[in-house]
Amino acid sequence: MGSFPALLVVVGSLALGANAQLPTINCVSRIPSGRVTGHCISIRECDYFMRILLSSNLSQSDRNLLRENQCGVRANDVQVCCPSTAGLGALNHPLLPTDCGKVRWQRSNGTDTRIREFPWLALIEYTRGNQEKIHACGGVLISDRYVLTAAHCVAQAATNNLQITAVRLGEWDTSTNPDCQYHQDSKVADCAPPYQDIAIEELLPHPQYNRTDRTQINDIALVRLASPARLNDFVQPICLPNKQLRADELEGLVTELAGWQARSTPRMRKSYVTISSIEECQRKYASQQLHIQASQLCGLTNSQECYGNAGGPLMLFKNEGYLLGGLVSFGPIPCPNPDWPDVYTRVASYIDWIHGSLKA
Ligand SMILES: *[C@@H]1O[C@H](CO)[C@@H](O)[C@H](O)[C@H]1NC(C)=O
Ligand SMILES: *[C@@H]1O[C@H](CO)[C@@H](O)[C@H](O)[C@H]1NC(C)=O
Ligand SMILES: *[C@@H]1O[C@H](CO)[C@@H](O)[C@H](O)[C@H]1NC(C)=O
Repeated sequence: MGSFPALLVVVGSLALGANAQLPTINCVSRIPSGRVTGHCISIRECDYFMRILLSSNLSQSDRNLLRENQCGVRANDVQVCCPSTAGLGALNHPLLPTDCGKVRWQRSNGTDTRIREFPWLALIEYTRGNQEKIHACGGVLISDRYVLTAAHCVAQAATNNLQITAVRLGEWDTSTNPDCQYHQDSKVADCAPPYQDIAIEELLPHPQYNRTDRTQINDIALVRLASPARLNDFVQPICLPNKQLRADELEGLVTELAGWQARSTPRMRKSYVTISSIEECQRKYASQQLHIQASQLCGLTNSQECYGNAGGPLMLFKNEGYLLGGLVSFGPIPCPNPDWPDVYTRVASYIDWIHGSLKA
């Protein structure tokens, strides 16, 4: 299995600052479950209150709630104290499932995964001119029809004379099919159905992605499957995050990354990634003339080996389920490197683009 990392090379120079995250005012949000910290932002940027505002049935207590949380008006736009909602999923969308990110096993804290552990992980299949097939990037299932991956995984296919032909779902051990896990004590086999290789109908890299931009801004692509995935215990979508899930709110959070990059085993493995300060990451990469933006996330892994495939998911465990925090974009080579965080596309920045791109 190969991968398409973006390399760190020192050329050119870029100034840091123009794209630093806008400062926002902290405030106390009063929501039915109590008082929580929040940020005073436009109501249109706040999924939590937009969900209430757009509900068909706005009650008097909803109106009161909106009034109590108003924190100003800026350019004719009502500002609300939007609760810090790392745990909340994105605003519902008719083409995205509400049943997502479910945990179907006992969570463990090692680097081995269980057979049902991350049923949204996908592998992107590339076909060479001679019909040879390889899996060189990862992805993540967000509905039965759509997979997210990195835009560089799409762009680099063309430059390597490869065509993206399918997506593999329901994979766990790349050396066997179907996959079985044997319980240590009972020796009973826990088997998954065979994996699903589903052809691609459409590739949608982000329109503003620029392959030659070394900072790899907008490194995100949607893949539309030619036919719906058959969902089961081993093939399930992950939940998308709220669009106001900010990078600085995630700082210090331990997230999970999984994939098949390990040289030591054909099985999916996982590592724990601690989200680093975006400012520190910007400073660090500025020394390489890379200009990290707020639409990206930086994280340091705890593992000795890199497991996540490019385009694969960085996952946040919240309220008994998994949310998609990021997509693997690039990192130091060799990987891992304790001094250089890996860089992810922050999916929360792209919720509107994702919603606007989905077709029935
Ligand atoms: C609207 O609100 C009322 C009172 O809270 C409730 O009885 C009714 O079921 C709600 N209707 C819908 C469609 O949610
Ligand atoms: C895993 O969990 C066990 C018990 O919950 C704990 O003792 C151990 O330190 C944890 N290991 C890691 C690597 O976090
Ligand atoms: C893409 O990025 C390169 C390098 O930063 C730049 O020279 C080029 O103009 C960009 N292309 C577009 C279409 O923005």
